[in-house]
Amino acid sequence: MVLRFSARSGVAAIGFFVLCTSIAVPARADNPPYNIKDGKVDIHVYNGYRRYGDSCMRCHGPDGAGSSYAPDLTNSLKHLSEDQVKETIINGRQNLANGQDKVMPSFGTVADVVNYLDDIYAYLKARSDGKLPRGRPERYDDN
Ligand code: HEC
Repeated sequence: MVLRFSARSGVAAIGFFVLCTSIAVPARADNPPYNIKDGKVDIHVYNGYRRYGDSCMRCHGPDGAGSSYAPDLTNSLKHLSEDQVKETIINGRQNLANGQDKVMPSFGTVADVVNYLDDIYAYLKARSDGKLPRGRPERYDDN
């Protein structure tokens, strides 16, 4: 009887613990690399948007939404880590399997890209998280 009681309270304790961590973990993970206030973006996201337009859009399409040649990055960033995204940008990637001839160029020596990896990531992450609609964003810190 005593044993059963403590087993049950043990389960309750574990349940409580799981409940707490499941609340706490998303809160900790919820630390986005972008700031958006009233639909307006910080200077980093804005810069990322511009760099994306200069270096990535011709393959990945407007707003990161993908093209017939290169993947939809708003989708890719849902399953790739920040490190994986940056690694792919720096080293590029070739997909020559199954008769494919798709090439993601390496941007490791392109200063306009490697110096702003955080900004490009922030922009794409905001798009991927559904926090930023398509099109040219407005900046909130206009200075
Ligand atoms: C010349 C065309 C081209 C340009 C320019 C280009 N990419 Fe790519 N990118 C590709 C292709 C093609 C792939 C898919 C390669 C594969 O199938 O493995 C890809 C893959 C990626 C991936 C991995 C996606 C996934 O789901 O695994 C990321 C992230 C990425 N590109 C980001 C960028 C960023 C950011 C830029 C601009 C700095 C950029 N790309 C510029 C063609 C391009």
